[in-house]
Amino acid sequence: MDMARGPRLKTQLDETAARFTASVFFDWRLLPFDVKGSIAHVTMLAEQQIIANDDAKTIIAGLNQVLEEWQTGRLSPHLEWEDVHMNVEGRLNEIIGPVSGMLHTARSRNDQVALDMHLYMLEVGSRLKAGLHALIAAMVQRAVEDLDVIIPGYTHMQAAQPILLSHHWMAYKSMFVRDYDRLEQWYDRTSCSPLGAGALSGTPYPTNPERTRELLGLKRVYDNSIDAVSDRDFLMEFLSWASLTGIHMSRLAEELVLWSSQEFGYIRIADEYSTGSSIMPQKRNPDVAELTRGKAGRVIGRMQGLLTTMKGLPLAYDSDMQEDKEAVFDVVDTMISLLTVVPPMLTTLRVNRERILRRLGNDYTAATDLADLLVTKGMTFREAHHLVGRLVSLLEAAGKGFQDVDAKWLKDVVPEIRPEWLKHLSPSDLVEKRTQPMATATSRVREQIEEAQSWLMRHNDFGGENFSP
Ligand code: ARG
Repeated sequence: MDMARGPRLKTQLDETAARFTASVFFDWRLLPFDVKGSIAHVTMLAEQQIIANDDAKTIIAGLNQVLEEWQTGRLSPHLEWEDVHMNVEGRLNEIIGPVSGMLHTARSRNDQVALDMHLYMLEVGSRLKAGLHALIAAMVQRAVEDLDVIIPGYTHMQAAQPILLSHHWMAYKSMFVRDYDRLEQWYDRTSCSPLGAGALSGTPYPTNPERTRELLGLKRVYDNSIDAVSDRDFLMEFLSWASLTGIHMSRLAEELVLWSSQEFGYIRIADEYSTGSSIMPQKRNPDVAELTRGKAGRVIGRMQGLLTTMKGLPLAYDSDMQEDKEAVFDVVDTMISLLTVVPPMLTTLRVNRERILRRLGNDYTAATDLADLLVTKGMTFREAHHLVGRLVSLLEAAGKGFQDVDAKWLKDVVPEIRPEWLKHLSPSDLVEKRTQPMATATSRVREQIEEAQSWLMRHNDFGGENFSP
């Protein structure tokens, strides 16, 4: 049976054209959602007396069998049935016979595929929320464990001012919480039913789109049938969300790569998340972190692909839109794999406290604070900035840090600066002076951590720690 050809098309579709146009080999994962949508549709058709109750029962039983065959791997895709929707109907016809022909009353594949994608994305959305929750929990766990560690903070990749390592981790926490908010807002907008739009104009049957919405547990029905079948905003928005979240993970991954290098040596990524080199036995490659960085590029590429596909399309449905599937599915799989592997890589890494301590004593990240102190002694900030700059170049030339300065030497070279002023410039002095909200003092970071812990509790309705791919 060739459901979509009919008498208008006399010959069979060319085999290469069939392969070219078919989506069944990649939209197969939509089958449970397709069946769910069809059951709601048929239920509504019977309630509205568009089809008989007995026929609806037969169709629903048949659909459940198709689903069961799919779940147990006994169903295989047929090329001649083109896509998952016609595969379901084709198999249904084999099971229940001609009654199956009533399923597609008052419906088009255009509103059907749009519905399937909404239902699929909502399920994916819940899993991704759980994954993000796990990632945020991992960030907070790191912040709790590393609260005693001070690192140089960087601007322009130059050591700038000392900060708590936990403060740095918590910056990522804040980024991921925004990603979570965006995902929730997207989720709400995506909970919208296009069913009832038909091909584009609605249908002449007395259907009840509000009832199918209710049966499917969606929040709203599209208010315009043309928009309902041509809208892919929810997919483009999803890809934008994934790109942004991917970029955040990628920036974090880049720091892990850098910090685990011999040059930095701040952290050691666990063996479980490091690979060896096939030629250089000394190496521990941060592959997981590198691929986290790499996959963000892939996700952004997929987003650009779909944006470009959509940009010139006239309303309503066009076959170009079938290209949404591979892009979105690939990004879904990529995001799930990222959210599976990144949190445990974070919680298992080790911070090399000794190495960081040695590194900390060796820079001039106290320079701003020294200048600030000179201001309290009556200099202008510009004068102070200049004097401290001079002191730093002298120290640098002598291979010394602020802590190595002796009073006599200082008196000879920069007499304006008194030796006792250099006393309270240790990294922890500097950190603990920054006590305003959002700043790096331990008390403030601890507050951020407590707030984040309570956020995690409040958002645990997706069972964050139970996230599984
Ligand atoms: N396989 C199609 C897609 O993924 C389903 C919709 C086809 N509609 C149509 N009128 N050809 O977009």
